Amino acid sequence: MAYANLKVTRREDGVAWIEFDRPKALNAFNTETLLELESALDVLSKDESLRVLVLTGAGEKAFVAGADIAEMAEMGAPRARVFSSVGHRVFEKLEKLPVPTIAAVNGFALGGGMEVALACDLIYAADKAKFGQPEVNLGVIPGFGGSQRLPRKIGPMRALELCFTGDIIAAAKAQEVGLVLEVFPAAELRAKVDEIAMKIASKAPLAISAMKRVVVEASACDPRTANALEQETFGVLFGSEDQKEGMKAFLEKRPADFRAR
Ligand code: HXC
Repeated sequence: MAYANLKVTRREDGVAWIEFDRPKALNAFNTETLLELESALDVLSKDESLRVLVLTGAGEKAFVAGADIAEMAEMGAPRARVFSSVGHRVFEKLEKLPVPTIAAVNGFALGGGMEVALACDLIYAADKAKFGQPEVNLGVIPGFGGSQRLPRKIGPMRALELCFTGDIIAAAKAQEVGLVLEVFPAAELRAKVDEIAMKIASKAPLAISAMKRVVVEASACDPRTANALEQETFGVLFGSEDQKEGMKAFLEKRPADFRAR
């Protein structure tokens, strides 16, 4: 997979990394980058031995500094709607990828950059990462799902404060408000996130994707339906070889050998 603005590394151990790499614009999302991300996700979603996907930014300064302001500056309302809908479509594919996704936020995650992190299951950050929804400084609002995903992650009042003020917050503050799980020294971010990715990759794969599906689907349905989905999915997993193996291995006091079956 070769792209102009992304580097995709798919390792033998089932972990893939996508690096946003568009240094002249601090990795900002132009349409080309969004479509490249979509194409990479389309390939990865069919990859049956993929276990975890990590997103990060190339270089030290930026994760993704937002949607591309130079491209947006030229848009009228119809093109802006299409641009927003492309971002929504791509980030929904990311959110629904059947394996866990992790944002390893190394630098600026602003506007659309924060929105792509919000579409991931887990967010970790380097100590020098910075987060913000500064769209109000440009006369617009978040357009890649941030108005929905941010309040769900940190609560509506915190989300509105960030979006009203356009403030850029440091990683420590992002952790304090629940936007980031953990903050690591910048030089250790990739290794630490890799450890977490590999730990997840070692677990029962069908259970991990079922877990993700139950949580993602639950956010779009009422609690009764969500509880029914959990019960149904719990039952379905008992038809898997991995469930038999996991429980047998526990009783035999040995590590389980999961085969995604
Ligand atoms: C296009 C960008 C960019 C962006 C930075 N650059 N962010 N280009 N779109 N979002 C470019 C700069 O123009 C500059 O290009 C180069 O990257 C380096 O950036 P500088 O500004 O010189 O760096 P610095 O002074 O260190 O400031 C870093 C920064 C600042 C604080 C991150 O670049 C910044 O505020 N960027 C914009 C952040 C933003 O508003 N993001 C939200 C966008 S709206 P040159 O050619 O001069 O070297 C959005 C909406 C999403 O994301 C929804 C859409 C539907």
